[in-house]
Amino acid sequence: MSQLLIRGGRRLEGEVTIQGAKNSVLPILAATLLAEDQVVLEDCPRLRDVDASVRILRSLGCRAEWQGEDLLVNTAALDRWAISDVLMREMRSSAIFLGAILARCGQADISYPGGCELGPRPIDLHLAGLRDLGAEIREEGGVLRCAASRLTGREVVLGLPSVGATENLMLAACGAEGTTVIANAAREPEIVDLQNFLNACGARVSGAGSSSVTVEGKRRLHGCAYRCMPDRIVTATYLCALASAGGEIRLKGGVEGHLSTLTALLREAGCEITSDRAGITCVCRDRLQAVRPVRTAPYPGFPTDAQALLMAALLRSRGATVFEENMFENRYRHVDELTRMGASVRVSGRVAVVTGVETLQGAPVRCTDLRGGAALCVAALAAEGESRISAVHHIDRGYEDIARDLRALGAEVTRTETEH
Ligand code: EPZ
Repeated sequence: MSQLLIRGGRRLEGEVTIQGAKNSVLPILAATLLAEDQVVLEDCPRLRDVDASVRILRSLGCRAEWQGEDLLVNTAALDRWAISDVLMREMRSSAIFLGAILARCGQADISYPGGCELGPRPIDLHLAGLRDLGAEIREEGGVLRCAASRLTGREVVLGLPSVGATENLMLAACGAEGTTVIANAAREPEIVDLQNFLNACGARVSGAGSSSVTVEGKRRLHGCAYRCMPDRIVTATYLCALASAGGEIRLKGGVEGHLSTLTALLREAGCEITSDRAGITCVCRDRLQAVRPVRTAPYPGFPTDAQALLMAALLRSRGATVFEENMFENRYRHVDELTRMGASVRVSGRVAVVTGVETLQGAPVRCTDLRGGAALCVAALAAEGESRISAVHHIDRGYEDIARDLRALGAEVTRTETEH
């Protein structure tokens, strides 16, 4: 088991380059199933969830190899269409393979995906959309058996703008006859990145970033070399780390336009943020001020993935801030751990109220999920003394090496491996 030891109380100073986006590269890895020859994912982030995708690709008969920082994928030899229950449970994004396998093979067997425990995470919208395109899906002993001798493009209206369902349908629609229009599509930057990747392979996809995505199906897709977008939630993590500890940092490659709801709140709290095409600079000199209510919403609203991070940054602010989590039912599991450091947070249903305290104390705490775990690091940077953060495997799902990055930003962080 790995642990992070963080000695808090140091102001940050330094710069890091933001890694590629987990939530882009995972659907893109599923999309490689649609390309006839090799795809090179340049500077691909090395994450636990990327490893899980690689294992899925290999289990289907595909080749996926690292060459330095690049991940080379060739799916020409694919000869299976079933993903085992063990692999499906490793992450939520395994569900996105369904649309791609169906488009490629006309059938797919999968079970329900795993992933961070944030409350119920159904895939009903994915399945309804695939049925609209002509797939027959039945459940047999926990296995979803999907068949589509032919997928047909048409308008598919999503009940809510689900990121995963939009991506799944974009991939399935590439294999459908005619044109598919996904209405009420998610508008996240990662959807735009998936569109850009597909188009680089020869697909004709348009509209991503708006609520209506159009896919012209049945085009032959070839391989390409592609570099996915910088990770906006990793960027958010280090901005919140700076807000928590104070100092001045530069995030190379960070894109402020992907995070304007967060940066607006950080400015309101007292941070100075400037950005240009090469990255973001953030300065924080004084104790933060509480900010107006933070309500999570689909993009371009405030990202649920940054809720725990901003909360951790505001634990020592002056005044009280209200959070309202509207995306997932169970996304305050980090709060009990933050309380061990002396934080004052009251949770009632989907609302949490953070009242700033003068000081936080380092404590032994445990990651409950990916972003909740990163939030513990953010809080620990501002706490007096040492925090010992366990269950770091949650953080490894989405951060290449959070200890390395925080050290580059001037923090005192070490990673240790223990027996239990
Ligand atoms: C993506 O998850 C991200 N994961 C999540 O990031 C992120 O929290 C989430 O979008 C919201 O922004 C990846 O991109 C790999 P959704 P996804 O489908 O696609 C409900 C992180 O920390 N819903 O947009 O699973 C669902 O329950 C992770 O990096 C249905 O009801 O999110 C939720 O309440 C965690 N039925 C809401 O929609 C469905 O069929 C949004 O989910 C699908 C979703």
